[in-house]
Amino acid sequence: MTQKIKNICCIGAGYVGGPTMAVIAQKCPEINVTVVDINEKRIAAWNDENVENIPIYEPGLPEVVKEARGRNLFFSTEVDAAIEKAEMIFISVNTPTKTYGIGKGMAADLKWIELCARQIARVSVTDKIVVEKSTLPVRTAEALKSILENTGNGVKFQILSNPEFLAEGTAIEDLMAPDRVLIGGDIDTVEGKEAVQTLVDVYAHWVNRDNILTTNVWSSELSKLTANAFLAQRVSSINALSELCEKTGADVTEVARAIGMDSRIGSKFLKSSVGFGGSCFQKDILNLVYIAKSFGLDEVADYWEQVIIMNDHQKRRFAANIVQTLFNTVSGKKITLLGWAFKKDTNDTRESAAIAVADHLLYEQSNVVIYDPKVTSEQIYTDMVYVNSRSEEENRDLLTVAIDPYEACQNSHAIAILTEWDEFKTYDWQKIYDHMLKPAFVFDGRNILDVKKLEEIGFVVNSIGKN
Ligand code: UDX
Ligand code: ADP
Repeated sequence: MTQKIKNICCIGAGYVGGPTMAVIAQKCPEINVTVVDINEKRIAAWNDENVENIPIYEPGLPEVVKEARGRNLFFSTEVDAAIEKAEMIFISVNTPTKTYGIGKGMAADLKWIELCARQIARVSVTDKIVVEKSTLPVRTAEALKSILENTGNGVKFQILSNPEFLAEGTAIEDLMAPDRVLIGGDIDTVEGKEAVQTLVDVYAHWVNRDNILTTNVWSSELSKLTANAFLAQRVSSINALSELCEKTGADVTEVARAIGMDSRIGSKFLKSSVGFGGSCFQKDILNLVYIAKSFGLDEVADYWEQVIIMNDHQKRRFAANIVQTLFNTVSGKKITLLGWAFKKDTNDTRESAAIAVADHLLYEQSNVVIYDPKVTSEQIYTDMVYVNSRSEEENRDLLTVAIDPYEACQNSHAIAILTEWDEFKTYDWQKIYDHMLKPAFVFDGRNILDVKKLEEIGFVVNSIGKN
């Protein structure tokens, strides 16, 4: 007999927890879904009367929140109360790469996960199904289980792994029609099987049962890491080719189209860029590398680490090319960066290639101006403090955030496109050219602009993987 779920609690109201719970609430009106977070500002923004002010920019999300919020979707800072009430708890807190101690720069920091587990154990008085939703290294479920079983008060817990495959910018589409839903559980026991089935029943409200895969916990956890590693590998592969294209006169877009039409290779994820970003790719590969190393599998670790090395190279190479093209000096020159988010249609900037490019240009004493349609200046300055050793004041002196793209480009020597926002394609490039210093350069790190048209206007254009 599977359990009927009446109350779901999700710990963590971020890019994963927020959209996922909004969709579950919309699709399962009979289940109360409460998303909790310790960040009061974030919860207040989720509860903002105007749904356009929710803290995450994601196309389609305001509409879903508008429909479900207050009906069966709630955002709250009362973590304990929500845990106590729920039969099923999703853990959707962040798991960044460790910045200290053993595994620094590689292993996932499980501090927040452990805190959650201890909190759940302390508060629970009825049996619960605990679902790990964050990307976690393999075998985290085991740690969760151990904490829950040894610190609780006799309450029974079932641990499931239900990795999220949504991509930011298309989260709602991905959640509404997922390629697959993956649920890992203790399928060797009756209780474990029941818990898995309970979560299957939640998703079956809108996902075809054939697309819901159930596996053991370890397979589920490892599938999440490796799905991201394979995707990132494709981007690093095409980026490696982009450099070769620039040297040989081949065009990376043409190469990508030609190889992508081989159905065994497929056409997706072959867009050459200034480098991949986002909260998952780098973190997950580093995790994979760390796990491989910890088992003594050095060749396996080196193989996957190369994906990261290539990505770092691509970001550095892009920035170095700007300096070299601008006659080997950018000191005091105004350079405009269009785009700061790690991809279009999101306000998320974690690991964005733009951060590395800006940092490189600042070291060359360039006067950097940034424009992004959805990222706040507060976020941009925070990102920069995190990545370089300068204080926020120093960064503010060197780096300006513009609210108007045309103003951002005025009197610039060069423009670099770092995010593929659609609006960049619709700009009046003649007008931009007229107000720039000459020769006026464009470095298209996303291959989104029409090179020919820009060259006709008078720009000197550099696109990734073309020359
Ligand atoms: C990724 C996975 O796609 C998703 O399934 C998982 O749940 C979380 O990690 P996300 O990080 O949101 O999602 O974005 P994604 O679309 O995968 O892009 C990652 C990075 O790769 C972005 O910086 C993007 O610009 C870059 N990218 C992607 C390319 O440079 N070229 C491509 O062809 C595709
Ligand atoms: P993701 O992309 O994985 O969703 P985010 O950083 O956007 O990551 O969201 C994670 C959220 O989890 C943050 O809003 C953070 O405040 C919240 N969080 C972290 N630890 C806890 C905790 N112990 N209890 C409640 N919320 C937490």
